[in-house]
Amino acid sequence: MTTVEFPVGGGYNAYIGPGAASLFSREAQAAFPGGRCALIADANLPSAHIRAAQDALGPGCTLMPLNVSEAQKTLEKASEIYAFLNDAGFTRADGAVILGGGVTGDTAAFAAATYLRGIPFILAPTTVVSQTDSAYGGKTGVDHAGCKNRIGVFAHPKAVVCDVDFLKTLPERERVCGMGEVIKYGAIADPGILERVSRGAPDEALISTCVRIKRGFVAQDEHDTGERRILNFGHTVGHAIEAACGFAVSHGQAVAYGMLAAVRLGERLGVTRAGVFDALLSACEKAGLDTDFEPRLSPALPYLRRDKKSDGANLDFILLEKLGRPVRKKLPFGDAEKLLGSIAAQGR
Ligand SMILES: NC(=O)c1ccc[n+]([C@@H]2O[C@H](COP(=O)([O-])OP(=O)(O)OC[C@H]3O[C@@H](n4cnc5c(N)ncnc54)[C@H](O)[C@@H]3O)[C@@H](O)[C@H]2O)c1
Repeated sequence: MTTVEFPVGGGYNAYIGPGAASLFSREAQAAFPGGRCALIADANLPSAHIRAAQDALGPGCTLMPLNVSEAQKTLEKASEIYAFLNDAGFTRADGAVILGGGVTGDTAAFAAATYLRGIPFILAPTTVVSQTDSAYGGKTGVDHAGCKNRIGVFAHPKAVVCDVDFLKTLPERERVCGMGEVIKYGAIADPGILERVSRGAPDEALISTCVRIKRGFVAQDEHDTGERRILNFGHTVGHAIEAACGFAVSHGQAVAYGMLAAVRLGERLGVTRAGVFDALLSACEKAGLDTDFEPRLSPALPYLRRDKKSDGANLDFILLEKLGRPVRKKLPFGDAEKLLGSIAAQGR
């Protein structure tokens, strides 16, 4: 088992490895002094995972199965969680264990962080996206009016229990799409990751590499005002693609499209060296991701201006000088739309 320490939010550990779920009880007892625990679990998980978590947490745990998808990552869904916690009489001494992928994690952690102005929670990620990325760093939130993660708060878990065995039941498409975030870490920080990408699920070592990279950015810039924005590589265009298709494209796949578009943009701006595009393309293909990003660009252009990181006139793009060397570049909306439009029109 690998332990990665996060020096934020009062300090917490991520426990990564097969069988990590056996730590649920110990971590819940340490984090929830009232002794009561809500297990908020993605209702679409294989029931064996939910039962195993219930067994590990014992009789003090009350299950709330959460039926949620990206299209339902909303305030209404968070309200369902508030109602459950309120009806069951949960207090600030109690807490929540949140079992599921990034959609469940973002929504339920947001609800936990705002119910009674915040109750403690533990994240138990079950997808590639959540085990390598979304469970760490304290970003919680929901979508609003078709805009990704429009409403949210920074709130850190008391622990992340990342049992890599959960990935065994992940449908192939989800596993493949999740590799988009893994490739992102290779592109911005550790090009060696691109050699380790495959169609299989990432193992403890690869997941831990990604988590340590994320820990580095989060420790430097907890509230995402500077360096942490580098983790947004591929996300400006990726989020616009997700919104444009009503979230029919999954997050990791959208990030993959967004990274390829950002590299082409960097080439147009004279920032990105030759060879970067081919290296990223080949990693995406090796992972089984679709790389036909150009047709996705035109419909996404109108959504770029809604990006959370815009200052009202410019987009804050993350580009690559070369693999492992990201640069931030502000681009006026009009310039970004024109350049991306011409990349879309040119095709491959
Ligand atoms: N907070 C952050 O820092 C951050 C970072 C990256 C992504 N995100 C968010 O994460 C979300 C995407 O997360 P995701 O890709 O995990 O999607 P997801 O949570 O929708 O899970 C994908 C699918 O896999 C199923 N599933 C989950 N675990 C399973 C398992 N072990 N076995 C079988 N099926 C399983 C789910 O029911 C769902 O159908 C997006 O909303 C994105 O914005 C947040």
